[in-house]
Amino acid sequence: MPHAHNDLPLDETSRVALEAEELRYAVVDTDDADEHDRWLQADHRGFHFDALTVEQLAEYRTALAGTRSIGVWDTATAEPDHPIATVGSWRSTVSLGDGRALDGWAISAVSVAATHRRRGIARALLEGELRAAHAAGLPLAMLTVSEATIYGRWGFGPAAYTADYRIDTRGLQMTAVMPSGRVHRVSAPELRGLAPVLATRAHERIAGEVPGKELLWDRMFAVSARTASHAPKLRAARYDDEHGEPQGFVLYSVAEDEADFAAHTLTVEYLCAATDDAYVALWHYVLDQDLVATVLAHLRPVDEPLPWLVSNPRAVQTIARREHLWLRVLDVPAALTARRYAAADAVLLRVTDPLGFAEGAWMLATDSDGVATVTAHDGGSGGAAVIDLGAEALGALMLGGTPVDALRVAGRLVEGSPGSAARLDAMLRVSRAPWLSTWF
Ligand SMILES: CC(C)(COP(=O)(O)OP(=O)(O)OC[C@H]1O[C@@H](n2cnc3c(N)ncnc32)[C@H](O)[C@@H]1OP(=O)(O)O)[C@@H](O)C(=O)NCCC(=O)NCCS
Repeated sequence: MPHAHNDLPLDETSRVALEAEELRYAVVDTDDADEHDRWLQADHRGFHFDALTVEQLAEYRTALAGTRSIGVWDTATAEPDHPIATVGSWRSTVSLGDGRALDGWAISAVSVAATHRRRGIARALLEGELRAAHAAGLPLAMLTVSEATIYGRWGFGPAAYTADYRIDTRGLQMTAVMPSGRVHRVSAPELRGLAPVLATRAHERIAGEVPGKELLWDRMFAVSARTASHAPKLRAARYDDEHGEPQGFVLYSVAEDEADFAAHTLTVEYLCAATDDAYVALWHYVLDQDLVATVLAHLRPVDEPLPWLVSNPRAVQTIARREHLWLRVLDVPAALTARRYAAADAVLLRVTDPLGFAEGAWMLATDSDGVATVTAHDGGSGGAAVIDLGAEALGALMLGGTPVDALRVAGRLVEGSPGSAARLDAMLRVSRAPWLSTWF
């Protein structure tokens, strides 16, 4: 059966460039289980993950059948059927908050074998993905990254951030009013079916979320072959509102402190809240566990409201903060008109993009409803703010999560007239920090 994403044509420029190096560049036939398995193993090896078992391979083949999996092969290697490089991509969306979402090209599984590194293979793969996505009419590309040093050169900028927290729960009181619904303890497998439904609703509320694949939820709920061994440790609870409707859930595990039985560490593995009440009630449940002295929560929003829910905000320590979702604008008008803006104004964005996709002078004008028009502009600014920037800065600014002034101070954008950065900042401002709660 043909799969929609696999049918996108392979990028001819990258094919020719790699052929000149005697490398074959092709889309994997995911109906050929052996070929797909070799690609999956190459991808896992590239990231230093364990080799996949037969059972895990079967799960991945099913889960990734619709992914456009591309390999690069070198016939001169000892295992010529095994790809020496991989990339996987699919059509996805990124949430823009307020129920809106924008189509985009999700890119993952970028790996090049240690024997073939630093010869321009990743460059051919990435540029091939961007050209393919652009040709398919997608306004942006997105990825999560192993290292923050790699993707800026291709015009990706960090657009959503995450934080890890450590909470000292001893003596900590919840000051927020407990909502009138109920928290139920449930088993993770029982909850698994609800996860995508509740997550979709939760994700609509905040910019930066990208829908997770079914395999991601299977792994998170320890019902996949790869994570099944975690099942005995994994605990779950669900919040139902006053009408008995599920509105959120939390997955967590608890590790014993051998020296002090009253000082266990609880790790929040995923907390999903489709309503504010669910958020408050689930944190209340998490913080209110006897025998637990420390709660860890990873990959959470940088503006987590939690410190305001408790008697001692200092008990909620941020232990890490990092960029997480990287965006690359491929179509400036389509990307910038999709979201709503916080101020009515106009800014002339003069974008430099060596790959060409976003290059040009673009007049972004917003009205009092926050609706934008974006037009190619070759005249004077006419009173609009003026900003010169590269594609990487444009991607970073897209969701309003990267401070405009920080980019100005760093020289990542330059004001064409004084005060332009402040005006752009007022337009881009969002009430909640963009957040991506999973990896892809
Ligand atoms: C990262 C990786 C894909 C790069 O592959 P590669 O074929 O060696 O990269 P290229 O030769 O095409 O390099 C392209 C450019 O990226 C730079 N680059 C490559 N890897 C880099 C890294 N890890 N950190 C910073 N820069 C890197 C190169 O120096 C080169 O720079 P240039 O702009 O001066 O030309 C490869 O090293 C790899 O598989 N790493 C392990 C898996 C991984 O982390 N993948 C990324 C997933 S998000």
